[in-house]
Amino acid sequence: MKLVYEGKTKTVFELEDGNYLLKFKDDVTGEDGVFDPGANTVGLTIEGAGKTGLRLTKFFFELLEKKGIPTHFVNANIEDATMTVKPAEMFGNGLEVICRYRAVGSFLRRYGMYAEEGQELDGFVEVTLKDDARQDPPISEDALAMLGILSHDEYKRLKELTREIGAIVKAELLEKGIDLYDIKLEFGRAGDNKEITLIDEISGGNMRAYKNGEYIEPLKLGELILSE
Ligand SMILES: Nc1ncnc2c1ncn2[C@@H]1O[C@H](COP(=O)(O)OP(=O)(O)O)[C@@H](O)[C@H]1O
Ligand SMILES: [Mg+2]
Repeated sequence: MKLVYEGKTKTVFELEDGNYLLKFKDDVTGEDGVFDPGANTVGLTIEGAGKTGLRLTKFFFELLEKKGIPTHFVNANIEDATMTVKPAEMFGNGLEVICRYRAVGSFLRRYGMYAEEGQELDGFVEVTLKDDARQDPPISEDALAMLGILSHDEYKRLKELTREIGAIVKAELLEKGIDLYDIKLEFGRAGDNKEITLIDEISGGNMRAYKNGEYIEPLKLGELILSE
């Protein structure tokens, strides 16, 4: 097993058959001990966060596969907190795609002159560059095409997939009385035909979910969704 990448919340290994193994850590993003899914630093360590993140990821990826969304998921080993996935080629050095249903986080910090906290946003999609040193700047479709990161056709597909995935996750949470405010996804090109594929994870670590107007911490979200 070869180490490929040491990330903030996961370690990536290459397996002998060419697949990747993602090892989920108990580290979560945030600052000064406070969890924040939008942060670019490890803010704290929560015992059990890795396994819960993986259990949620497995749950959502299996659900999405069933609905016909192309994902990198192969299988998961909850005990070891590892997931086997198909390797994907990144767009540039990686993009994050955010789907927003209510105004919070960086959206509110940027557009606070025109938006109120919690305001409905109708599944608004935006793309940011994975660039920790530059605080993950938002980037437009034209800039992505001009810089050779993503073609216009790929952008269209990325946006369409993001809205589909966001809607599936939102509906699933709603069944448990949970309100999805926003979700952050990652995609890459995978398989022989380099199909645009959902990669990385879907857990409490990359979404903001609320119940009765109160924010739900990642571990609590796992409990609520995975119980029964
Ligand atoms: N199927 C895949 N193929 C290649 N890279 C992947 C795949 N799934 C996830 N990744 C990458 O692996 C890394 C996972 O570790 P993580 O701790 O989340 O990293 P980061 O600190 O960059 O967010 C991310 O950089 C993610 O883009
Ligand atoms: Mg990450």
